[in-house]
Amino acid sequence: MTLLSVPVVTIDGPSGTGKGTLAEALAAHLGWHCLDSGALYRALGLAAEREGLALDDPEAMASLAARLPLGFAGRRVLLDGEDVSDAIRTERAGMAASRVAAHAPVRAALLEWQRRQALAPGLVADGRDMGSVVFPLAPLKIFLDASPEVRADRRYKQLKEKGLDASLPDLIRDICERDQRDRSRATAPLRPATDAIMLDSSTMSIAEVLDRVLEEVRRVFPEQVS
Ligand code: DC
Repeated sequence: MTLLSVPVVTIDGPSGTGKGTLAEALAAHLGWHCLDSGALYRALGLAAEREGLALDDPEAMASLAARLPLGFAGRRVLLDGEDVSDAIRTERAGMAASRVAAHAPVRAALLEWQRRQALAPGLVADGRDMGSVVFPLAPLKIFLDASPEVRADRRYKQLKEKGLDASLPDLIRDICERDQRDRSRATAPLRPATDAIMLDSSTMSIAEVLDRVLEEVRRVFPEQVS
């Protein structure tokens, strides 16, 4: 297992818990890099659909993952130079991501790339298996959860704010279906690392969650954070 040369905080949990927002806010606060690993699987699912490849074919998906022309420009995600930041955020892209992410060869193909993102001065890594598989030696691991109803309601409000059509019962059903697939897959299932700190964000604002996590960051990395 590779030792980490820079401080790493992992933030795992199901979608809709505020993980991504927390990871970005924490990284900005600390001046560290941020890895949104979900964007990798989402971009892969989008690329597969565009190329007309079968999402359920592990080998085809792994070979696409190995040659994925992915780039990042700040917070924007580029696929073959095209800005796909919005295209990968749809419910459809989330479902496609969950399907391609279930294949062990796909996860293996993306592992080293993710580990290489641990760069000075530090990394906040957001996903499902950041603490359990990708950075098992991270000194601080957070597992963020919230009830499916709260998560669906947050997503519903986000979609409505964007002027998009949404149905709350459909969102709850989709979230439960995606959780079920992410939790039950054989490789890197969505599960807290044994040494993760569990936080339930159902009744907390993002600012409250950030404060709580910053307390832990100060405890674990006293030299890096004032
Ligand atoms: O965090 P997200 O909603 O953008 O993730 C999209 C899908 O990608 C999610 O259903 C599961 C998968 N995923 C994963 O399997 N492992 C990760 N580290 C990140 C995401």
